Amino acid sequence: MQFKNFKIHVYRGYVQNNYLVEYNDKILLVDGACRPDMERIAVFVKEKLGRSMTDIKLTAVTHCHPDHAGAAHVLREKYGIPVAAPYDIDVWYSGIGGFFQHLSDTFQANFMALKMKTKLRRLYYRRKLNPDYKLFDNSELPLFSDWKAIHAPGHTSHNIMLFNKENKLLYIADSIIDTGGKFLPPVPVLFPSEMKKSLLKIKELKPDIILLAHSPSPFLPYNEEMIDKTLRKVDAKDPIFIRLFYLISKFTGEYRRRREKL
Ligand SMILES: [Fe+2]
Repeated sequence: MQFKNFKIHVYRGYVQNNYLVEYNDKILLVDGACRPDMERIAVFVKEKLGRSMTDIKLTAVTHCHPDHAGAAHVLREKYGIPVAAPYDIDVWYSGIGGFFQHLSDTFQANFMALKMKTKLRRLYYRRKLNPDYKLFDNSELPLFSDWKAIHAPGHTSHNIMLFNKENKLLYIADSIIDTGGKFLPPVPVLFPSEMKKSLLKIKELKPDIILLAHSPSPFLPYNEEMIDKTLRKVDAKDPIFIRLFYLISKFTGEYRRRREKL
């Protein structure tokens, strides 16, 4: 899709959408994808875009989950692509609780792949990302100053969204899940009040188009009703099946530390 200054290409990853923002002289990879996506991203860039992997100047990671950070590590190792991520991303998987959370999240991503009838691949990636650039609320992305990080916790303590003001374009990552016109909060929402504030930030930003990591429609015209529907679901009681996932999403020590502070 053509925008002012760049084109956006959608790469359908292992269980998620990723976006390649193509400028004349550089490419921004929006979110860090799953580890097995690395080879497929390389093929996509070379064959579909006719560009070189060295044209990717940055991977912007929104949070630590396997479908958002898994390929960022290996793309950096293999092609030297630097990573920008929330300043506190590595706290989530630290310590023994973080170790088990990382295992559990990797299992959950493969469960999602099974549900989507995707052939199972090895998802292992290192727990700690050590970002080359640390992003705070409203930080401009390095080399891509037309994009800003927007702090959007709730799903984890450190999620961000990425906003391009000039094109009124907002990548919301996992802030909303679209199952084909049905808008839901992510699983898990570990900090419901923060999640609601993050959703309200989308209303304040008033984007024209939102980009979702999990949606069959990669470029969604925005309307406030999406937010209202999702907000209502944050407070709704989850089915038992979903509640089981909550049981295996609270190992991280940061969950308890943050809940105490809130
Ligand atoms: Fe996530």
